[in-house]
Amino acid sequence: MTPNFTTLPCNYAPRADLLKDRVILVTGAGQGLGHAAALAFAAHGATVILHGRNVAKLEAAYDAIEELGAPQPAIMPLDFVKTTQAELDGFAQSIRSTCKRLDGIFHAATHFTPLMPLALQDLDTWRKHADVNLTVPAALTKACMPLLKQAPDATVVFLSETHAISPNAYWGAFATTKSALATLATIWQAEVLEGESLRFRVCLPGPVASPSRSKSHPGELAGTLPSLASLATHFLYLMGPDNRGDTDIFYRCDPAPLTRLHK
Ligand SMILES: NC(=O)c1ccc[n+]([C@@H]2O[C@H](COP(=O)([O-])OP(=O)(O)OC[C@H]3O[C@@H](n4cnc5c(N)ncnc54)[C@H](OP(=O)(O)O)[C@@H]3O)[C@@H](O)[C@H]2O)c1
Repeated sequence: MTPNFTTLPCNYAPRADLLKDRVILVTGAGQGLGHAAALAFAAHGATVILHGRNVAKLEAAYDAIEELGAPQPAIMPLDFVKTTQAELDGFAQSIRSTCKRLDGIFHAATHFTPLMPLALQDLDTWRKHADVNLTVPAALTKACMPLLKQAPDATVVFLSETHAISPNAYWGAFATTKSALATLATIWQAEVLEGESLRFRVCLPGPVASPSRSKSHPGELAGTLPSLASLATHFLYLMGPDNRGDTDIFYRCDPAPLTRLHK
């Protein structure tokens, strides 16, 4: 599935209380783009549920949010490689009992191994990429669906990757599992019923100075790339109510303007 691109001039200036009273789950919130998104959502009024594996990193994100004077976040660790359906159902149930609602999920958790030929990728490699990049995000979203459907204006954002749209040698299981997110989001959006307010978005961040970028492009100077925080405005646009009337599913940040990807 190869979407077409339409560039949207974006001088988006989110209002300070854009996400007030909303509860947003951010996966992979301990570092990188998930961390940047979590802080931006909190700074704009959301109660953020911080997900990741490494509790120390999640606690550091929690402290950073408290320092902002933003709503108190929650920490919910879960390893996507080891999880089960029962754990995912329990995860959603914990959100219901502690936060009472869920207005969005920002899927930033990702599994990435150094670039290598497909000839070297075994079953374990495929399973880990599929679990973290595709199947657990899908199953977690499904587990949270009753809560999302109760929210007046819910959004699910999947972060994808340029090589998922333009595949190239050595991007193997990572690009393949990421590419399926476009199909997943399209099917899910098509299954939203009349009267339900739920939108699915796939976003390509483009190159950005993050820990995973330094793994995929080890020779690159981080100072030449957009910062993690510079993408936060795009994430706020996608997660907030100003994106409500838009029927497009695919977007990319490129690097300053937000670009729409049409099917
Ligand atoms: N950085 C870029 O240049 C770039 C470009 C295009 C697209 N993207 C996309 O943007 C997204 C975020 O990228 P990033 O660079 O911010 O990634 P990152 O810094 O590598 O962070 C990945 C996150 O995923 C979590 N994670 C990894 N394995 C997990 C597992 N088994 N269970 C649960 N959580 C797990 C990590 O949690 P712990 O740290 O707690 O283990 C970490 O918080 C990805 O989808 C990536 O494909 C990034």
